[in-house]
Amino acid sequence: MSAEAFLTLHRNLPREGPGEPADVAWVGQHVELPEDALICDVACGPGADIGPLLDLAPEASVVAIDHHPQFVGEAAETWTGDPRVDLRLADMRELGGRYDLIWCAGAAWFIGTSEALKTWRSNLTQGGVIAFSEPCFWRDPPMPRVAALWAEYPEMSGEAGIAARVAEAGFETIATRRLSDDAWAAYYNPLLERMAALYEDADDELRQVLAAQAAEIAAWNEYGDEFGYLLSVVRPV
Ligand SMILES: C[S@@+](CC[C@H](N)C(=O)[O-])C[C@H]1O[C@@H](n2cnc3c(N)ncnc32)[C@H](O)[C@@H]1O
Repeated sequence: MSAEAFLTLHRNLPREGPGEPADVAWVGQHVELPEDALICDVACGPGADIGPLLDLAPEASVVAIDHHPQFVGEAAETWTGDPRVDLRLADMRELGGRYDLIWCAGAAWFIGTSEALKTWRSNLTQGGVIAFSEPCFWRDPPMPRVAALWAEYPEMSGEAGIAARVAEAGFETIATRRLSDDAWAAYYNPLLERMAALYEDADDELRQVLAAQAAEIAAWNEYGDEFGYLLSVVRPV
């Protein structure tokens, strides 16, 4: 897939994966953060979750990192100049600092759940927690055609499998939440609008990217009750 065509499709979208402000607020109901909570938004994309994260505590501040310059640049359009927000171009394996909450929407699985949790353990304050969302089969084992949709992520499992990986990394699960249809709509609806706007003048490379994206959304429409994203709040044991 052409990286340039991918970025053409994904430029200036509100978010880069399923999620909604209610997910962040729900995390706030399950953790006790200090008034001046320091929060890390790992793999922040264009920064859709930064505002809701700031709302979790009266004097919260957020360090938001992503390794992609385009997404950090888009987040900067909203947050540059806000003293509560520190945007960094960085790899999620090297967060630096210590945080009361490490939030990662839809990206821990890129390096593996256990690996991510083990890596971020040293970045937590005493009492700090991690909240992350990741793809999950609601029926485990999944139907073969549903498993085939996620061939790129062989570690993908049901909810028990995620809990097992959390435990294997030396953490315990405090609470879990299945992301809602609204969370998916928040990602897919702007994408669908963009796809429609780009289609007519698209070259071959962009058409390939549009077709792959259309197939992904069609699979969600057909099998969205078989898989989704599970948001887990975990703490070290
Ligand atoms: C599925 S998107 C989620 C973005 C954002 N959390 C959201 O929900 O809109 C995954 C993000 O992870 C970032 N990413 C992937 N690998 C990364 C890494 N090793 N270090 C930092 N960011 C990474 C990508 O650039 C992308 O912005």
